[in-house]
Amino acid sequence: MNFYVMTLFPEMILQGVNTSITGRGIKSGAISVEAVHIRDYTKDKHGKTEDAPYGGGVGLVMQAQPIWDCYQAVLSMIEERKAQKEFIAGTASADPANIQTDTEPSSPCPEDDSVSFPAEDDAAGEPADTGSTGTKRPRVLYMSPQGRVFNQQMAEELSKEENLIFLCGHYEGVDERVLELMEAEEVSIGDYVLTGGELPAMVMIDSISRLVPGVLGKIESAEIESFHDNLLEYPQYSRPEVFMGRQVPEILLSGHHANVDKWRREQSILRTLKKRPDLLEEAVLTDKEKKYLDSVRESML
Ligand code: ADE
Repeated sequence: MNFYVMTLFPEMILQGVNTSITGRGIKSGAISVEAVHIRDYTKDKHGKTEDAPYGGGVGLVMQAQPIWDCYQAVLSMIEERKAQKEFIAGTASADPANIQTDTEPSSPCPEDDSVSFPAEDDAAGEPADTGSTGTKRPRVLYMSPQGRVFNQQMAEELSKEENLIFLCGHYEGVDERVLELMEAEEVSIGDYVLTGGELPAMVMIDSISRLVPGVLGKIESAEIESFHDNLLEYPQYSRPEVFMGRQVPEILLSGHHANVDKWRREQSILRTLKKRPDLLEEAVLTDKEKKYLDSVRESML
């Protein structure tokens, strides 16, 4: 899976993603992250990427032109990567070396040389994956506190994409026209305001990446955990058996796997009931577990 981040602070993104588990995922080739510097695509001779808002007001607005050209460059990168992949697989008709791209900052895309992807499939409300290039138009996620709030379900949905483009905003916002042209989806990571979209993009890349096969050591470690089946994780214990007078629950030392599994599920249900009862509405429970939940609820009355 390939992430492309359009940003004014590429070093911030690269420092964030190249460490720990995402860094390992990049090294192994399970994911890739390109931080694309919007400033490299401005046609302003002073390198300006923002200007005062029409109609007056405080602050600066990120201008449409550098973002649009940066976006075109990212689309070219995606096409080029696809051509290279096909060439290596022996399915391409053309040598990728001959494919014209405009990804070099020194040669930003000419005015009307947009890379064309298939038009959106209106019925599905999501980009279509058929058309002249055969490449699905990548989803563009604009990081903004006004967006739909990111959650685990969105992470799971987005982890199935091959390419994702992030736009990190700054200042007072982004010229609305470029957001419309890119059909950007606004996404927030929570109801608070940050100074820019870089941290939100990194948060999203982190949570999406760990769902991409090959990023985590074992697929189970992604599955048995908070929010799986809409339940919180059960408590974990490790050596020693007694710490500061506190004993590890006896059942975990019993070696009886079925009993341990049942106890863990019940602990997950209990924790969710105590900490995030809202999640229980969508929780996936067996009939026995539903009865267990009802009995706990009754005992709390
Ligand atoms: N940019 C500023 N604040 C943000 C937030 N909460 N989520 C996403 N992008 C943002």
